[in-house]
Amino acid sequence: MKFFIDTANLAQIQEAQELGVLDGVTTNPSLMAKEGISGDANVKAHYKAICAIVDGDVSAEVIATDYEGMIKEGEELAALDEKIVVKIPMIKAGVKALKYFSDKGIKTNCTLIFSAGQALMAAKAGATYVSPFIGRLDDISTDGLDLIESIRIIFDNYDFGTEILAASVRHPMHIIQCAEIGADVMTGPLSAMEALLKHPLTDIGLAKFLEDHAKANG
Ligand code: E4P
Repeated sequence: MKFFIDTANLAQIQEAQELGVLDGVTTNPSLMAKEGISGDANVKAHYKAICAIVDGDVSAEVIATDYEGMIKEGEELAALDEKIVVKIPMIKAGVKALKYFSDKGIKTNCTLIFSAGQALMAAKAGATYVSPFIGRLDDISTDGLDLIESIRIIFDNYDFGTEILAASVRHPMHIIQCAEIGADVMTGPLSAMEALLKHPLTDIGLAKFLEDHAKANG
């Protein structure tokens, strides 16, 4: 399973990259705003800065919600760097835009997926990735992982090349369960990735090893 970091924070992206397990980045307009990035030129410069740090795909979301606007914005974003994946919302005009970009060989990430039907539509339109938001489903007392499971079955039934990008990941158990189900990618915060490597018995065991070594070596 690929690990994407879900942030527009350059320091965190750099830290995850240095950890050696990062396969890409996802951003959204809220995450860009959180970093105080505004204005077309600044937004584009920020995407370029992210691309300079990571080796893999970088999702950059369009703001337009009409077909022509999405095409114009998406083409501009895709021209910034070959790592850019145009992120498009799951709306009717978005499905048309997914098909357009797919025909042109430009990578896409269909965002705001909350049902298997939406994922199927995006896959049929040729999306590179679909992003089911599991944390936001959990927030409304619906098991987000059930959705990942259902999409996995559908995509496998028909050999869709579209990758399942489990999004809105909030904690390490989400990551483990997505891996068990067979999500192709997960995107989450650095804290959830780092939580995967922690275990109290590891800390206790290491402390004991170092203590015994110190005793033996004076
Ligand atoms: C996905 O691409 C989104 O940026 C993201 O995962 C949303 O997560 P949130 O529900 O924690 O905002």
